[in-house]
Amino acid sequence: MKIAHLSDLHVLGEAPEPWTAYTNKRFTGWVNLALRRHATHKHEVVQALCREIARQRPDHVVITGDFSNLAFSGELVRARELLERELEMSPADVSVVPGNHDLYTRGSARTQRFAGIFSGYMTSDLPDLATAHASGPFPFVRLRGDVAIIGLSSATPRPPMIASGSIGRPQRDALARVLGRGELRGRLPMVLMHHPPHNPASKVRAATNGLYDAPAMRAVLRQAERAVVLHGHLHQRMAGELGAGLRSIGATSASLLHDDDDRRAGFNVYETSGGALVREHAVVLDVATGRFHERAIPSLPAVSG
Ligand SMILES: [Fe+2]
Ligand SMILES: [Fe+2]
Repeated sequence: MKIAHLSDLHVLGEAPEPWTAYTNKRFTGWVNLALRRHATHKHEVVQALCREIARQRPDHVVITGDFSNLAFSGELVRARELLERELEMSPADVSVVPGNHDLYTRGSARTQRFAGIFSGYMTSDLPDLATAHASGPFPFVRLRGDVAIIGLSSATPRPPMIASGSIGRPQRDALARVLGRGELRGRLPMVLMHHPPHNPASKVRAATNGLYDAPAMRAVLRQAERAVVLHGHLHQRMAGELGAGLRSIGATSASLLHDDDDRRAGFNVYETSGGALVREHAVVLDVATGRFHERAIPSLPAVSG
């Protein structure tokens, strides 16, 4: 299987939203956006990346959250339309999970907005194992060739300036059941979640930006003989071993213009054979030429515990 991994599109809506739509949290987010994000996240870059993915013809595409900025319907629908138009792939061949920006407000969680807009991209071959979550039924499982794609939601509404997430006990228990199912035998579990399963060393940073139950998640994932976690959120590509056959790989933001080659927009490509990951690399945008080049995914220091 050849799988392309995109993340953190951060698509802006086409039309401005009415001022009444801006809650306190949205207002803080909008100021943040106006100050810096608009200058570096470009819609045209996401389009170019999707066209390059379409040209490379992967078997499957996975997208690990933060499609929007403020969880407006206009942003989420525009992101979905972009995928429909540029990837030219069936929703059965594209899997998505939400990021913290896609559940930005309590209203977006209450109405299950993300699940409503992306339902075709989150169908499950093992629907009996899903639990109810604010962003839809998770985990979903898609059995494709020698890979089992398992989608989880780490997104929950948080106060302004807080970007942390959690998987929670119901999803962790359901994940353990998925990993034990006979359908997964001989397949590589590829787990999609927006937040990485390893937190920053700084306790403050971990509390404001990390995954609350990262150690508990690693313990569940290590029950599999081997597994790969695919994440976004950090806007930086990185890969590392988390012990007991568990590998973690992050994709950068698909819209980010940045001087650093390890952060600038691109996507990751994974190749599997016989239920094992046999190759991984990044495809990175060259701003000067508008072309793409291959690059190794930089290594994280080993994470234990
Ligand atoms: Fe993001
Ligand atoms: Fe994020």
